[in-house]
Amino acid sequence: MRVLFYSIHSYDKSPIENANSGKHEIQFTELQLNEETVSLAAGFDAVSLFTSDSASELVLEKLLQIGIRFIALRSVGFDNVSLKKANSLSIKVANVPAYSPYSVAEHAVALLLAVNRKLLLGQQLKQHQDYRLQHLTGFDINGKTVGIIGTGKIGSAFASIMKGFGCNLIAFDPIEDPILKAKLGIRYTTLEEVCHKSDILSLHCPLNVHTKYMINELIFEQMKKGVILLNTARGGIINTNHLLAALANNTVGALGLDVYENEKNIFGKDLTALPLTDDLFIKLRSYPNVLITGHQAFLTTEALEGIATATIATINSWANGEKAINELE
Ligand code: NAI
Repeated sequence: MRVLFYSIHSYDKSPIENANSGKHEIQFTELQLNEETVSLAAGFDAVSLFTSDSASELVLEKLLQIGIRFIALRSVGFDNVSLKKANSLSIKVANVPAYSPYSVAEHAVALLLAVNRKLLLGQQLKQHQDYRLQHLTGFDINGKTVGIIGTGKIGSAFASIMKGFGCNLIAFDPIEDPILKAKLGIRYTTLEEVCHKSDILSLHCPLNVHTKYMINELIFEQMKKGVILLNTARGGIINTNHLLAALANNTVGALGLDVYENEKNIFGKDLTALPLTDDLFIKLRSYPNVLITGHQAFLTTEALEGIATATIATINSWANGEKAINELE
């Protein structure tokens, strides 16, 4: 099969080449898939996409016109593909349903520790030869209540780690996991109660029509004053305007973000010589208690290998005329 991989960078090229080991004719581009770059896929049978690519209805129509029948996503989330349209055009789409959930869960913990213990501020002060401890007080995580929204693969890995810290765990997920209840003593309750009771709140649900702006001003009003909020799931789950208000009135005491609702124009790009024009992002960055990473939570060797192996397995199935096990409908 001839496959064009969009949004490929130095770090994910060789795991894919290793997993493919010459089986398929593959080509890489650093460019993101969008209306301007869709024509690059002419002459290929399939494209492989990441979260920064956009397979909108128009892009899908253009992909079909140039002969693309398969889209192998290299991500768990598939909110960047208009699945309904792809199905109506008979373009097959498959995601990577699982790869090291520890990569993202551990990154969420890294954000938590960094914002709670003010590691970046401490580092900045020391670079200015200021070795005082003012502004650097955190709190013990042991004994605190951690709320988890979405207890799937990543949420449950995060829950296990936080159990190890000695936290009380509460969660909201429309599908409760009896194993987590029995093993970790996690208590499921409503979204509102999770937000009301949590000292630390971490998002691990997908972005879809039900979760878009799930964290909005009404939910912020329910939160404990000074909560640490972590989002390693998808930016669109939080209404950023409302988040800024919650930061301004200290409802959110500290914030760790790996995702941001308008991240496509920023993350993964070299903007060093350009002014930042995204007002919401500028405001978010202005808070000393906010730590933002650029959608890098997945970026571990193990996760990259897992993504590459699963993506090539999907392409193998399609090349053999079979249904891929992780095809989305
Ligand atoms: P998963 O499918 O194993 O778990 C998702 C969980 O969310 C499920 O238990 C589901 O029942 C629950 N859920 C669905 N709707 C919900 C709602 N309205 N409220 C609360 N919970 C809800 O997925 P996994 O692997 O745990 O990944 C979770 C999300 O993490 C992905 O959808 C993706 O957006 C994000 N992600 C982020 C990465 C990063 O690098 N920052 C990398 C990989 C995934």
